[in-house]
Amino acid sequence: MTIYNFSAGPAVLPKPVLEKAQAEFLDYNHSGMSVMELSHRSKEFDDIIKDAEKLLRELMAIPDNYKVLFLQGGASTQFSMLPLNLAKGRKAYYVVAGSWGKKAYTEAVKLSKTIPFEPVLLASSEDTVYDHIPEIDSQQIDKDAAYVHITTNNTIEGTAIYDLPETNGVPIVADMSSNILAVRYNVADFGLIYAGAQKNIGPAGVTIVIVRDDLLNDEPVLSSMLDYRIQADAGSLYNTPPTYGIYIAKLVFEWVKELGGVDAMEKINREKSGLLYDFIEQSDFYSSPVKTPKDRSVANIPFVTPSKDLDAEFVAQADALGFKNIKGHRSVGGMRASLYNAFPCQGVLDLLEFMKKFEEENK
Ligand SMILES: Cc1ncc(COP(=O)(O)O)c(C=O)c1O
Repeated sequence: MTIYNFSAGPAVLPKPVLEKAQAEFLDYNHSGMSVMELSHRSKEFDDIIKDAEKLLRELMAIPDNYKVLFLQGGASTQFSMLPLNLAKGRKAYYVVAGSWGKKAYTEAVKLSKTIPFEPVLLASSEDTVYDHIPEIDSQQIDKDAAYVHITTNNTIEGTAIYDLPETNGVPIVADMSSNILAVRYNVADFGLIYAGAQKNIGPAGVTIVIVRDDLLNDEPVLSSMLDYRIQADAGSLYNTPPTYGIYIAKLVFEWVKELGGVDAMEKINREKSGLLYDFIEQSDFYSSPVKTPKDRSVANIPFVTPSKDLDAEFVAQADALGFKNIKGHRSVGGMRASLYNAFPCQGVLDLLEFMKKFEEENK
């Protein structure tokens, strides 16, 4: 039975990457050691992390005045690290269009009780269960604010921001965890981008931060581990980094490059997600909770049947047929197909066949 992994993260990785890692597992590059056994100060690992950075810079066309960091602690640590480094004594705006954006805002509010800065909720679609991206009024943005925080792709609710909001000259900071390398963004439009690796980049444990030089902090913050400048000056080697995860990330970057880069990935992702959206749209059995088509994510596609019981039946039957992890997040229910870069088009075609059959049998 073919297994298709629809997980929202950790998620499916490219098979050629896993095969290469397997082949190199016991003896990396004639070192007689596994990558896991290499010192992070060794020549071999230095080449790996430098190559990973070079490839990511190339794939995302990252300008020279941005630093690329490989950190730990997941995207969730960035919810605090960001205001700690960037927002002292200033306002920080949040656009809350999904549960993860809400978490980022909530963490900022919590931190503002001990660090002087002012998190401001600029826009939210919480009252309609995040079924759309809320409009932003740039007139409300104080031009001296530290940043405007957005989530480019709402993993749980299946919406995305493709056209960046007007922010009155204030830098945009983005949680790009679930669509980094899946669609093209212009890095120069952001002050800072961060992403957990476990969707489009590699295993959990690596967090990518891309930060513009002039935003690096010039005074000591609470802890060296949480200081972007210290991490940047140390080339992400302030402490022992997640070496194996960075190695897999490097292999994934090579794979994306081989397939034609981010633009090629976006084209494939639009095709894959388009097949599923088109099918849902023509069906009067399935429906999408996302209100406006322009807000649709190409990475995470939630959908429901006419009832919760049928949703549960769908998930059970799908699972038995090898369509794994297709159950929607507990906060929204239904189903969610996460179609990250490594998810094969054939998996979508096979899913559509199953969806048709399930509809016929349960209509
Ligand atoms: C958009 C988004 N932000 C943040 C997170 C949290 O990431 P982490 O588990 O790496 O802290 C996730 C996890 O799925 C996510 O999808």
